[in-house]
Amino acid sequence: MSGAGRAYAVVPAAGRGERLGAGENKVLLDLCGESVLRRAVRPFLTHEEIAGVVVVCRAGEEEAVRAALRADAERVRLVPGGATRQESVLCGLRALPKDAEFVLVHDGARPFVTRAILDACLAALKETGSAVTCTRVSDTIKRAQGAFSAGSVPREELRAVQTPQCFRLGALLRALEAAQREGAAVTDEAGALERLGEPVRLVECADWNPKITTRADFALAESYLRAQEGTTREKTPRVGTGFDVHRLVPGRHLVLCGVEIPYELGLEGHSDADVAVHALMDAILGAAALGDIGRLFPDTDERYRGADSMKLLQEVLRRAGAAGLRVVHADVTIIAQRPKLLPYMAQMAESLRSALPGATVNVKATTTEGLGFAGRGEGIAAQAAATLLPW
Ligand code: CTP
Ligand code: MG
Repeated sequence: MSGAGRAYAVVPAAGRGERLGAGENKVLLDLCGESVLRRAVRPFLTHEEIAGVVVVCRAGEEEAVRAALRADAERVRLVPGGATRQESVLCGLRALPKDAEFVLVHDGARPFVTRAILDACLAALKETGSAVTCTRVSDTIKRAQGAFSAGSVPREELRAVQTPQCFRLGALLRALEAAQREGAAVTDEAGALERLGEPVRLVECADWNPKITTRADFALAESYLRAQEGTTREKTPRVGTGFDVHRLVPGRHLVLCGVEIPYELGLEGHSDADVAVHALMDAILGAAALGDIGRLFPDTDERYRGADSMKLLQEVLRRAGAAGLRVVHADVTIIAQRPKLLPYMAQMAESLRSALPGATVNVKATTTEGLGFAGRGEGIAAQAAATLLPW
């Protein structure tokens, strides 16, 4: 552990997760592809003002914790914890290097801590020597006397505190050791300093930073992440590529991009063998994750004998549309030594454009400098890329 800064993070992760009841430590559970703990630790690892991270784990669980942290395990220091959270935090604090001036304590069970929260805490910490992230309370809070209410607590005065809880290392160590010595159980670090009359700066943060305690918390965290991923997926363009080759033979028409091109040879195939449209269809199917044209229009199926590939393209577009996607751009390259395609380029692009309303279309052609099957004029190849967006 090294770094120029002198703020370190201590992440207690040595609990058993009994209230969640998964039969294992909840911080090790996979939450939408990544462990709760790795999610909780990462913002600290990527913050340039944080010089290092100590993760406190239960003795005997080191290997499982390393596995849960994956590659990040290399970048944290693991130390064994204690029977209570308070003891575990103390174990973490005692393992910090000598140059540590500030410490940010953060529960391994809070996977949604953000950079914005860390920034706000670090700013307050440098200014006042303490920072505890908190939110306003939206429920009305009652003081209970048995089964009856003894009145409301004024809500404007209330804050629900979370982690990170950040202090000068020396002050926090003294406060926690005093609490430990005097047998005072404090539920958070701030509680230990409050006992000594030390000021604790509250930092209000808007970001959602819940602790995963129960099964319901875990389920909520999962659906929150899925919703977030869904939104990103919705905005992300999808790109697919396609490639096809057909042999040139006598006695067939040459059709490229739906345009008949005068030539003494034509492409051999079950359909009209429009190699350019075939590559384009595969690109679209690729972007929509719908397989390929071989699967969709098998050449063993008599319905597709001599088929107009532009009609097949309509079927591909219908399927992509049913999957919620539309083509916004298509780029097709035809690889042919002969015939000269330049005179037909505009017509080919126009033909595809009319099949792909709203999309930009680019058609280009190249020779292979006489090399290979295309160069020898034995066949024509085509490749395509298609970009799709949600409707
Ligand atoms: N923790 C710890 N050492 C302990 C107890 C808890 O490091 N002896 C850690 C937990 O791993 C968790 C954080 O403190 O990241 C907050 O504690 P809590 O939510 O209570 O977690 P658990 O103790 O694991 O859960 P439970 O109380 O339901 O068993
Ligand atoms: Mg606990």
